[in-house]
Amino acid sequence: MKIAVIGTGFVGVVTAAVYASFGNEVVGLDIDQSKVDSLSSGKVPFHEPGLAELLAAVLETGKLHFTTSYQEAISTADVIVIAVGTPSKPDGSADLSYVLAAARSLSPFLQTGAVVVVKSTVPPGTLITVAEEIRKETTTQFELASVPEFLKEGTAVEDTLHPDRVVIGADAPEAIKRLRELHAPLQAPVIVVSANSAQMSKYAANAYLATRITFINQIANLCEHAGADIQEVIAAMGVDKRIGKHYWYPGLGYGGSCFPKDVRELAHFAETQHEVPNIFSLLSELNESRVEHVFAHWTETVGAWSDKKVAVLGLSFKPNTDDTRDAPSLQVIPWLLKQGAQVTGYDPKATSQIAKIFGEQSGLQFAENLESALEQADVILALIEWPEFLTFDFGKTKLEKTQYFLDARNQFDPKQITSHGYVYAGIARRQS
Ligand SMILES: NC(=O)c1ccc[n+]([C@@H]2O[C@H](COP(=O)([O-])OP(=O)(O)OC[C@H]3O[C@@H](n4cnc5c(N)ncnc54)[C@H](O)[C@@H]3O)[C@@H](O)[C@H]2O)c1
Repeated sequence: MKIAVIGTGFVGVVTAAVYASFGNEVVGLDIDQSKVDSLSSGKVPFHEPGLAELLAAVLETGKLHFTTSYQEAISTADVIVIAVGTPSKPDGSADLSYVLAAARSLSPFLQTGAVVVVKSTVPPGTLITVAEEIRKETTTQFELASVPEFLKEGTAVEDTLHPDRVVIGADAPEAIKRLRELHAPLQAPVIVVSANSAQMSKYAANAYLATRITFINQIANLCEHAGADIQEVIAAMGVDKRIGKHYWYPGLGYGGSCFPKDVRELAHFAETQHEVPNIFSLLSELNESRVEHVFAHWTETVGAWSDKKVAVLGLSFKPNTDDTRDAPSLQVIPWLLKQGAQVTGYDPKATSQIAKIFGEQSGLQFAENLESALEQADVILALIEWPEFLTFDFGKTKLEKTQYFLDARNQFDPKQITSHGYVYAGIARRQS
């Protein structure tokens, strides 16, 4: 099958490489020439485990190449996948301008019967707008479908090769047949639904996961009042098969490129449908107040932050990615600097992204490795659970002074950290 993938960002590159690995002829198209050049030479412009290897392997087969030319990518494509960004606007609605720009640009080059797939996360109803946009420029017959993406950064290649499901949102039998065929090598359950259901399933999945995070943070707040330990509560509650022990992350709230915006977009959609009040608007509000809430507690432990040397470990929004979109570091570091703390950041992969965001005047320092980040630190703030931090022996670097160990994701054993001599504080954890 001949495939064009429009937008070679995070989702687009992984999708293009995986489709090519099945023997399809794939063209990755982007308006960003530097991205196209980089990918053409086998360089992935971001960190994602396994992707560079997969890209190198498919480039070698000649089944994948990259271009900035719509004509080149679209004119022979049987399936065209739109995977451009859909950030949320200040009012919370999805900014569809990139999707619609892609629809306009592809339309003059469509071949008859091509299937145009919207993979970007978009609200229900968007395919109608996309169809109108395409028809402005062409009378060629085409089909439309929605195939939302469920991959997770950090495990994107694995998720795309072994998805829990493939959701095909389409009505036209030919579109469904072609998309089933395209995804057959994955041997994953295929769920065929309407386009609106497919789009809603994506928002619902992310809003549900964001709800679990917000829910457990709310319970953690109550644990602090009750003298209960949130990890003990999770252990006891998670045995219930209806609930499960998985996916509980008490901490500073959800971040990243998807949850915050998808929840805001769903809340906006709910409001436009006059579904008020709704849980989704409240989720964003509660999530945004997490850093302030947790730091109020930790300030009771640490005392004044002024002139304290703080080692911030983990600058990306989660482990195994250099993506810093809505990362906790973006809120935490300015707060610490404002309190007069001397902040040194360390991340295995995301340092350069954060350095660009903060600039040289911010006062934020960076360490080249974990041990140098810890030098003279009064406070160790473990923001993100990179494997390197979890396996590190913090006993080895303990200094002869009071040192605080703040565990923002409850990933460390309080007993072990305390046994090294640190003053430990996590999220709603018992001290003894
Ligand atoms: N990143 C994730 O983990 C993830 C997971 C699931 C779904 N999604 C959804 O997938 C979509 C893409 O997300 P992403 O993180 O890959 O975005 P991204 O910002 O990393 O990449 C988007 C790419 O599209 C390109 N682009 C913009 N306009 C274009 C145009 N008119 N023609 C060609 N290229 C154009 C940009 O240059 C960029 O390279 C979004 O809707 C997002 O919500 C993302």
